[in-house]
Order: sequence, then C-alpha cells, then structure tokens
Amino acid sequence: MRIAIGNDHVALQMKYHIKAYLEEKGHEVIDLGTDSSVRTDYPIYGKKVADAVAGGACELGVLICGTGVGISIAANKVKGIRAVVCSEPYSAKLAREHNNANIVAFGARVIGEATAEMIVDAFLIAEYEGGRHQRRIDMISDIEEGRFSCSD
Ligand code: RB5
Repeated sequence: MRIAIGNDHVALQMKYHIKAYLEEKGHEVIDLGTDSSVRTDYPIYGKKVADAVAGGACELGVLICGTGVGISIAANKVKGIRAVVCSEPYSAKLAREHNNANIVAFGARVIGEATAEMIVDAFLIAEYEGGRHQRRIDMISDIEEGRFSCSD
C-alpha cells in the first residue's frame, strides 16, 4: 500500500520508527514530515499528508505530533479527509471499518513505539464495511459541503 506519513519536530524518532516498520512490511511510504528537530508548525504536515490522501497520491495516511491532536485537526480541514487520533488499536480498527477513516494520527508524547505499531497494523488491515455506515459518512460529507440540515 502507498502510505503518506507526516510529523512535526516533536515526533521525529517515532516517525522514523513507524516509517521503517511500514517499509519492512512492504508498504511504500511517502515521507512528507520534517526531518529536523527545529521547532516547526504541525498544520504544515497535516495539510501535506491530507492533500496526498485526498488527491489520491496515497491510499492512507499516518500523522504524528506530540499528541496527534493538532495535526489531525489540521488534516480534517481538507475536504474528503477523515483523520482520527488513536491511542489504542481497537479505535483504529473501528475507525476504518465504521468511519472509513483515511488518516490515523497519534501522539509521540502519549504512546510508545509498540502501541504505535499495533495502531498502524489495526488501521491498515481493517477494511471499510460500507452498508449501514455509508449513510453517516454521506452525512459527514454533507456537513463538509454545507448542505446538511439537522432535520435530515
Ligand atoms: C508541539 O509543541 C505540539 O503542540 C504538537 O506536537 C502537538 O502536540 C499539537 O497538537
């Protein structure tokens, strides 16, 4: 699978670890994060990865900052992106199966490398189930497009 990865200065070592982990598993990893420990701004990398996924250059994305929060908020501003912050693998699995999430985010200051591995494994292995979930995904798209009415 072609996966975009992005990170800020806080998450350098975690990015290197997860990038190598995914490559060992045979994935092609497009690294759009910083390689510098100089303080930078997480929205840059959230946007870069979101654009790569929303534009179809990559199938899924992985975002890492201190908490995973800021970088996922930034990514979610890009149309078509459903980025989720996960600190355990169960939510990552369900985020794919039910929410058709296309980016998983986590915090380098929150979880360790072993948990991060489990989270990306769960996220990449799971598949969107469609069916009853699609109506809700369509509602989210409608909110994004400004055509959602709460009476729907
Ligand atoms: C950077 O200090 C930190 O704010 C960032 O990595 C992230 O945790 C933001 O959500």
